[in-house]
Amino acid sequence: MGNFLKIIAFSFVLLASFSGFANYAIPPIIPESPPKEAVISGEMSMDDFITLGGKIFSGKGTCTLCHNALLRAPLLDGIGARAADIIKGDGYKGKATDSGEYLRESLVDTSAYVVPGFGKPGTNDSVSPMPDVSKGSIGLNEAELNAVIAYLQSSSGVEVTVSIPSGDAAATEEEAPAPSSAATAEEAITKHGCGMCHVVLSEEGDMGPPLKDMGTVAATRVEGMSASDYIRQAIMDPNAFIPEGFDPDMMPADLGEAMTAKELEMIVAFLADSKGGAVPVAEIAPVEEAGEAPAAEEAGKAEGADSSGG
Ligand code: HEC
Ligand code: HEC
Repeated sequence: MGNFLKIIAFSFVLLASFSGFANYAIPPIIPESPPKEAVISGEMSMDDFITLGGKIFSGKGTCTLCHNALLRAPLLDGIGARAADIIKGDGYKGKATDSGEYLRESLVDTSAYVVPGFGKPGTNDSVSPMPDVSKGSIGLNEAELNAVIAYLQSSSGVEVTVSIPSGDAAATEEEAPAPSSAATAEEAITKHGCGMCHVVLSEEGDMGPPLKDMGTVAATRVEGMSASDYIRQAIMDPNAFIPEGFDPDMMPADLGEAMTAKELEMIVAFLADSKGGAVPVAEIAPVEEAGEAPAAEEAGKAEGADSSGG
């Protein structure tokens, strides 16, 4: 198998493509940091804090990726007032006692209460598809969470119950650069190296299953799971389902974390749309040698083993 060399070769391609605008000695996988957002400090006025929350909502927080008119997630108009009713309702099993606590819980402990009809398919509304926005690719810090909560409360006309964090802690945390996002699914797939292991776009990786017909295949993988959900899971939690003929722990588990939420959703949509591509369905599943781990000693004989010519 030529995988080991391919990975090396791929890394160089990756480096080369980034070196145009990043002159780092050791180029990071995430090439550039975006312009720094406003530093939250104790001197900020509440109005500014709310405005900042609105910016995070549609920017770094990528909330509008799901909370929009397509109704993949509930619209948040009036959520401040609605929260008060939700926490009094019979179906509510979370811990919040006021709207501010409910909003915080909705952001970081998303399955504590799942809005009926919006749960992950097959979980009977017990598991939320919304990620913990304080973690992973969104990674809002305490100050940013509070700003978003203030924005949601203010924009739905209820009293703002969170306070502006004071001191250096908030400001320092803000320095951490957020990853910049690729603009298209193709860019995101290239940026995250999927073609290193998969047949996708013009790449011919063979460590994992081909992705050319992923939309069709994904819909049949796990009963009751939609193609998009399966693909999202395959990226975020690769060991959750291992297709026949492949081994666990081969696909990096942290790829999803290295992505922005926008990149993840673009890739999911792109793959879910990949149907009836060049690869016939019959050839998709078990590929005999594909489960082998690329051992270091294989590297020597790897050259020439790959007839695809890279
Ligand atoms: C990947 C999609 C996705 C992203 C990104 C996302 N959400 Fe959600 N969100 C959902 C879904 C689906 C629900 C409904 C299920 C549930 O209750 O958790 C939800 C529920 C909520 C709720 C509770 C709504 C209600 O009616 O009770 C709030 C508040 C919320 N999200 C805020 C946010 C904010 C703020 C962000 C950005 C920082 C965000 N969400 C990002 C998908 C998402
Ligand atoms: C180092 C190799 C490697 C990289 C890089 C990699 N994958 Fe994978 N992938 C695998 C392997 C091996 C499997 C099969 C085992 C498993 O499901 O974990 C797999 C499985 C999958 C599946 C499920 C396929 C099926 O037929 O059920 C999807 C979808 C997927 N990968 C998407 C991606 C995407 C998108 C990227 C880039 C962000 C990526 N992979 C990067 C190795 C890789």
